[in-house]
Amino acid sequence: MEKMKSLIEKLEKERMLSKGEFLTLLTTISEEDTLFLRERARQTARRHFGNKIYTRGLIEFTNYCKNDCYYCGIRRSNRNVERYRLTKEQIMDCCGQGHGLGFRTFVLQGGEDGTYSDEDIVDLIHRIKADYPDCAITLSIGEKSYESYLKYYQAGADRYLLRHETANEDHYRRLHPENLSLKQRKQCLKNLKEIGFQVGAGFMVGSPYQTTEHLIEDLFFIKELDPEMVGIGPFLPHHETPFAEENKGTMEQTLLFISILRLMLPNALIPSTTALGTVNPLGREQGILSGANVVMPNLSPTIVRKNYELYDNKICTGDEAAECRFCLDGRMKKIGYELAVDRGDYQKAEQHIKKQIY
Ligand code: 5AD
Ligand code: FES
Repeated sequence: MEKMKSLIEKLEKERMLSKGEFLTLLTTISEEDTLFLRERARQTARRHFGNKIYTRGLIEFTNYCKNDCYYCGIRRSNRNVERYRLTKEQIMDCCGQGHGLGFRTFVLQGGEDGTYSDEDIVDLIHRIKADYPDCAITLSIGEKSYESYLKYYQAGADRYLLRHETANEDHYRRLHPENLSLKQRKQCLKNLKEIGFQVGAGFMVGSPYQTTEHLIEDLFFIKELDPEMVGIGPFLPHHETPFAEENKGTMEQTLLFISILRLMLPNALIPSTTALGTVNPLGREQGILSGANVVMPNLSPTIVRKNYELYDNKICTGDEAAECRFCLDGRMKKIGYELAVDRGDYQKAEQHIKKQIY
């Protein structure tokens, strides 16, 4: 349909649409126009990143969490998960293995586990930076005070992932218990930005009670925040949560949002997530072909992998770090891309343009 094509072209050119236009796009796009949108998004990523895919080594260092989010498999109320914490030495071992495999970013992710003090986190950052000065550190450890975030940043952490999950108040309430608030979440993201982190927001696609209007609010929130990274993936139920019987999000809808986000934020770092690879065996490849430019294979020791199940049937829980790295290498090559041995920092638009001129 010509009208839809011009809407997609407008999104590409202006990097935003009105609420009404997004609604039209999301509710009436045909299969053919979806292919056109994905193609535009893929070309946009190509212009900025060539055929290089950035990799991040994910270290899930604790599955203890004080929160009780209704969707999450490691929520506090789940008594049927074996809890673990990696020691600093184990974490350093993961980094060592990862460095040998070509990772130049380590993502330290965990539940909100009060056992690690700010000093522990700072010490960990110091150690990793001392041993691997050529690497970036990304933290993904939830909501903390401004002062804590500042300490991490001053210790040398480069990036911070904190998905906002949904930008709509009512929807946020339906996904989280009373003690968590969207206002607080947004404040954390603002603080992280102000401090100077490269910041990652994001949301689940197809989470319970989500409407198209909510998703449009997510797009508006992201436009306003202007994050360096955006992580999205399909919602997938976990059998030990209140959402055990809810429907999954789909690969198709997730790909659609990856493409829209790529056109909105042409130089953003957008991962093709493990959840996408879980909902479909070729999901991560499709994510790249829809405009994503990052993959985040797991570096956690195999013995703890299956205990970090945020949702059921998570892929790669039985595979060694090296296996995942080589598997992804092959998967990316098959679709014409290559994993980069690079920190893969966010680059402002001007730097990109310069690169293209010289
Ligand atoms: N399905 C999909 N994604 C989930 N996450 C947590 N639980 C689920 C689930 N059941 C996502 C959240 C969180 C990130 C670490 O994982 O968006 O921010
Ligand atoms: Fe882990 Fe393929 S990426 S086995």
